[in-house]
Amino acid sequence: MKGIIFTEFLDMVEQNFGYEMVDTLLNESELTSGGIYTSIGTYNHQEMVNLLVTLNMKTEIPISQLLRTFGLYLFQRFTKIYSHLIDKAPNAFAFLGSIHSYIHVEVRKLYPDAELPHFDIEQPNANTLVMHYSSIRSMGDLAYGLIEGAMKHYGETATITQELLQEDGSQIKFVIEK
Ligand code: HEM
Repeated sequence: MKGIIFTEFLDMVEQNFGYEMVDTLLNESELTSGGIYTSIGTYNHQEMVNLLVTLNMKTEIPISQLLRTFGLYLFQRFTKIYSHLIDKAPNAFAFLGSIHSYIHVEVRKLYPDAELPHFDIEQPNANTLVMHYSSIRSMGDLAYGLIEGAMKHYGETATITQELLQEDGSQIKFVIEK
């Protein structure tokens, strides 16, 4: 997992829970990197899981909720860092529909070793977008928060429902209805 995800995660923790919590997470989680991340570095995905588990133990907030909050935060950061990619889409569905065919393709050019999920997209009608998420990293809750963040960015409201297609969370169907 790319370092930028770790650095943004720790910034989110600092903003929401204070610097002491960042310190606690870095000291009490098992981190092979030693907890030193650079945005272009690549680290074991398990370190993110370990950080989330420690944050869950300290705050008693479910991991699913922590990941959603992080997704919402991360998207708002992406609008600053990758504005040139987001600006191309005129609305939320156009943007979300292009994640797999454009956004993550551009991300892969920047970071050839990025570990990205797969999305299959369907748009059954003008008000509904279906996103099939699949990834062995099972980070559907992060996707949920990122989708929420995208809707918010475009000033659109929608209900997001998710259906677990695999027990382990490696395949999820998101239905976004305006
Ligand atoms: C992972 C970039 C939008 C879903 C990532 C990673 C980057 C990235 C850098 C990490 C790769 C790694 O750690 O190796 C971006 C950018 C976006 C964007 C620049 C917008 C401009 C989205 C949106 C969604 C999404 C809107 C949800 C629909 C995910 C998920 C992962 C991920 C769930 C975690 C890895 C996994 O599940 O396997 N993305 N992303 N991304 N992205 Fe995106």
